Amino acid sequence: MAQRIAVIAGDGIGTEVMPEGVRALEAAAKRFNLDLDFHTFDFGSCDYYLEHGQMLPNDWFEQLKGFDALFYGAVGWPDTVPDHISLWGSLLQFRRQFDQYINLRPCKLMPGIKSPLAGREPGDIDFYVVRENTEGEYSSVGGKMFEGTEREVVMQETVMTRTGVDRVLKYAFDLAQTRPRKKLTSATKSNGISITMPYWDERVAEMAKQYPDVAVDKFHIDILTANFVLHPDWFDVVVGSNLFGDILSDLGPACTGTIGIAPSANINPEGNFPSLFEPVHGSAPDIAGKGIANPIGQIWSGAMMLEHLGHQDAAKAMVDAIEAVLAEGDADVLTRDIGGQGTTESLGKAIAERIGS
Ligand code: NAI
Ligand code: MG
Repeated sequence: MAQRIAVIAGDGIGTEVMPEGVRALEAAAKRFNLDLDFHTFDFGSCDYYLEHGQMLPNDWFEQLKGFDALFYGAVGWPDTVPDHISLWGSLLQFRRQFDQYINLRPCKLMPGIKSPLAGREPGDIDFYVVRENTEGEYSSVGGKMFEGTEREVVMQETVMTRTGVDRVLKYAFDLAQTRPRKKLTSATKSNGISITMPYWDERVAEMAKQYPDVAVDKFHIDILTANFVLHPDWFDVVVGSNLFGDILSDLGPACTGTIGIAPSANINPEGNFPSLFEPVHGSAPDIAGKGIANPIGQIWSGAMMLEHLGHQDAAKAMVDAIEAVLAEGDADVLTRDIGGQGTTESLGKAIAERIGS
């Protein structure tokens, strides 16, 4: 039976890199005999908002819930729609309503990409950041009192549930178990945040008992960020709460070079709802419309999607093709952000051809 994929390009360069993402997926589908059925939607973009006064139609949940996966480009066009409206009205709705409680980002230094960390080569940096995506520090529990007076007070609570903590830890341990190094690092701050973070640590220790083959360590978030920069080779799978994971999931990919190539996934592991796959970058208004955006973040997100859908070989072929084209380093093919003078299309086509061969 066909696997149904909802394609939402969004705004700016999202509309330019998306066709290359689909081209690469179609090449993989052809080579590995996959039955992928793409459906394109125009909502979840600022143009849709300007026409309809909202980012999504009222029945978006019904329209999308039956899909096997959502493939998203980028959302945001701050000149016409404020970012909090465009992001909250689309992406964050999907993450919450579809209970995508895992945010997953690979941090892998690719050939031909210069790491901002001196002296690092491909192979030195190859890890995943797993972020809790639904609770923790990003709760709406709290309030403001005595606003505008001397007694003004604001409070916002961190919410950690056993279910919420355990499910993200289980995902991270399972992931570590599939990796050759089988190593898990937990981000904590139990020396400063004295209730929720010791609880997080407790749950890590409890979960670790079920994974005797996984080596576990933990760092306080402050030194952990330093170690991402100083010793990125130490890490394999790194798991953190919503806030710590947010910070690490930007810092990790930054250590591997350009933002144009980093992919991400928002996952509902049980498959009760579709998971969402998107590049880390935004709509890049500064280069939109020029055809020079790097499509690799979108293509690599497509590879993560195939992996999630159970097509490990096809996913690997896609990542291998990205690596091969980067290693070749043909300046006429590569985009400007990685030192070439090619276009979104030239790079996308080169990768799709490689996937097909
Ligand atoms: P951005 O990621 O769009 O751009 C940051 C810088 O990186 C820009 O100089 C851009 O030209 C460059 N860049 C980004 N992607 C690139 C690519 N594929 N190839 C080459 N260069 C690339 O972040 P920014 O400028 O902060 O945000 C622009 C809009 O995107 C805002 O509306 C923001 O809210 C939205 N945004 C959406 C995200 C999403 O859809 N998940 C994530 C981040 C931002
Ligand atoms: Mg972030």
